[in-house]
Amino acid sequence: MMSDKINKIKVHDKEFEIFISSEKIQQTIDKMAEQINSDFRGKDVLFLVVLNGAFMFAADLLKRIDFECQVSFVKLSSYVGTTSTSTVRELIGLDEVLRGRTVIIVEDIVDTGITMSNTIEKLKHLEAAEVKLATLLFKPDAFLKDFPIDYVGLEIPNDFIIGYGLDYDGLARNYPDIYTLIGKA
Ligand code: IMP
Ligand code: MG
Repeated sequence: MMSDKINKIKVHDKEFEIFISSEKIQQTIDKMAEQINSDFRGKDVLFLVVLNGAFMFAADLLKRIDFECQVSFVKLSSYVGTTSTSTVRELIGLDEVLRGRTVIIVEDIVDTGITMSNTIEKLKHLEAAEVKLATLLFKPDAFLKDFPIDYVGLEIPNDFIIGYGLDYDGLARNYPDIYTLIGKA
């Protein structure tokens, strides 16, 4: 593996600098997986990965889950450019029966929380026994809701970030590290 880190990236007109290293991300996921393993071992768990942003986090988290479980993927989005909008699209791709099951949502980031509160409501209507949420990142200063977040990897300031699954205009999801916008307004 190439080990030289990229310290700055440019996406369109914006410049980003490294903010969370891949090593820190991996340590964070180690801890979260340990906790989930001890909390849910022996239960009938369905991990529900929210695409696209959570694909990398989900891959790293689920490799560390050591009990029998199902993994499924849903898609939704509320982001256009770098600002949150209140338009939440539907959940696409959910074909599992949730009734009576433990669902653990795997999300990249909780920002305003609008997307997740909407998603959690939808899952409760499908009569899941319990709906838990595991997010790699959380922006407490942007959070407008009050639902519990069961597993938080890292709390971060209210700045726009990319990398490790997170995008700006569809770009930068591929980087192993997380970057933050330089020269915020
Ligand atoms: P929320 O509804 O405001 O909580 O935003 C949820 C979704 O917006 C997340 O699942 C991400 O896909 C996206 N998002 C939130 N903050 C950022 C960011 O800083 N960079 C890239 N995407 C973000
Ligand atoms: Mg997301």
